[in-house]
Amino acid sequence: MSTPPRISLTRFLIEQQRDHNRINSDLRLLIEVVARACKRISIAVGKGALGGVLGSAGTENVQGETQKKLDVLSNEILLEANEWGGHLAALASEEMDDPHSIPHRYPKGEYLLVFDPLDGSSNIDVNISVGTIFSVLRCPDGVRDPDERAFLQPGSRQVAAGYAVYGSSTVLVLTLGDGVHVFTLDREQGSFILTASHVRIPEDTGEFAINMSNLRHWEAPMRRYIEELLAGKTGPRGRDFNMRWVASMVADVHRILTRGGIFIYPRDLKDASKPGKLRLMYEANPMAMIVEQAGGAATTGRKRILDIEPTQLHQRVPVFLGSKNEVERVTAYHREADA
Ligand code: AHG
Ligand code: MN
Ligand code: MN
Repeated sequence: MSTPPRISLTRFLIEQQRDHNRINSDLRLLIEVVARACKRISIAVGKGALGGVLGSAGTENVQGETQKKLDVLSNEILLEANEWGGHLAALASEEMDDPHSIPHRYPKGEYLLVFDPLDGSSNIDVNISVGTIFSVLRCPDGVRDPDERAFLQPGSRQVAAGYAVYGSSTVLVLTLGDGVHVFTLDREQGSFILTASHVRIPEDTGEFAINMSNLRHWEAPMRRYIEELLAGKTGPRGRDFNMRWVASMVADVHRILTRGGIFIYPRDLKDASKPGKLRLMYEANPMAMIVEQAGGAATTGRKRILDIEPTQLHQRVPVFLGSKNEVERVTAYHREADA
């Protein structure tokens, strides 16, 4: 038996451009550059205490969260890698109040890149998987100097989305709108190798991911759904469910992509000014595109995430995503309660 050819990310992208006409050379360069930046972040994460990268940076981001050194470093790595290639019109990130314009000395391209440079910050110092999430949009026609408004497009207009997980291995998960593909970093060679193609999330699942400590703040339909799962075999669902919560969205979503499950960060009523914890533009939208491309579903509990018309770069939304039948069930509970 002959071994199948090793397909590097570079080869995959060239074939997507040349054979399938799915991307142009600018989008190909963009994905390559983001992947290279993720490799650098992966190396920094992997050094841990030896690299002096653990702990707090002593600063706050626009959301009032304390930044970790790795939040700041990962943001810088992604900015620096993406500024000069001529493929982007602007960038935006969790760690920057406003979009970052491309310096005048460099050419500008047609794409907008939005990212969560380091997802799962609370896990950095305890050696648990963290990651990077990114979303690619087209700069609206005729916009020369994109500001926040240029980014406020529904997730259904994303041309690409992906995430990296810096775990026991480093993986890069990518969609260009034609299924979801997983690449594993070959650390010796320094290249991402295709290890799974057209991944599908099982429609049914027996596993849920949620931070249960917020239960007392949830809305009624949310409590109903979880109470039914917890009731197990003798409850209304007639079977037992298992729970997992890494507290890094990238790791929880990656598990769901691999073996199914439902991930929930619902709206909670402890702070009325926050309609959820996760951010639409660089957490919910890219993950929703990936999950839908893998046959799953992604809603706010009430509507499809990818249909939301954003009003702010850093806006938050409730997130329900993963195995289709569970997402549809809990979404139906919310709609019933509203009606
Ligand atoms: P970030 O580190 O980018 O701020 O995101 C953290 C997010 C997400 O990764 C995770 O699912 C969630 O916060 C965990 O929240 P809890 O600490 O409330 O469980
Ligand atoms: Mn995050
Ligand atoms: Mn983050």
